[in-house]
Amino acid sequence: MNNYMKLEISALGENESFARSAVAAFALYLNPSLTELSDIKTAVSEAVTNCIVHAYRHGNERDKIVIECQAEKEENSPFGQLHIEITDYGCGIDDLERAISPFYTTLTEEERSGMGFTIMQTFTDKFSVESEKGRGTKVKMVKKIGIDGNKEAVKE
Ligand SMILES: Nc1ncnc2c1ncn2[C@@H]1O[C@H](COP(=O)(O)OP(=O)(O)OP(=O)(O)O)[C@@H](O)[C@H]1O
Ligand SMILES: [Mg+2]
Repeated sequence: MNNYMKLEISALGENESFARSAVAAFALYLNPSLTELSDIKTAVSEAVTNCIVHAYRHGNERDKIVIECQAEKEENSPFGQLHIEITDYGCGIDDLERAISPFYTTLTEEERSGMGFTIMQTFTDKFSVESEKGRGTKVKMVKKIGIDGNKEAVKE
């Protein structure tokens, strides 16, 4: 059965760990391994941090991040998929291809490494970004659950 959640939060640094833990807690529905769970947290953390530090660079408390998750699994199957969409309504990205390339950052003076998008790509199974200048950005990721044979049980 499929399962869905939508979370809308203020774009505050304080909410980054809440967002990653909330998605991880939702992912437990798919019975992930510790590694899969940790990959999900890492990817969500990078996407949410980008909304806070880039999209809403000169932000205020009304700035919102929307996180939608869809968990898909078949009855009696150990395999599932977690679809994650992280949306902001901030400045948008000029050149997506350049933004996604490793080590590219627009915040060099703040010791960012430009690896956020690369990390999201590495830790998930599907990754894409849509962005419109001045309107915002949506990051879509899919994480397959159950392909990591190392199934140490994760308890809440
Ligand atoms: N949600 C967003 N809104 C606007 N611009 C973004 C957004 N996400 C990323 N960018 C742009 O894409 C660039 C690359 O992002 P990426 O996450 O790969 O690196 P970074 O955030 O600069 O550094 P790091 O993630 O390693 O701290 C950013 O420097 C920024 O210019
Ligand atoms: Mg980043």
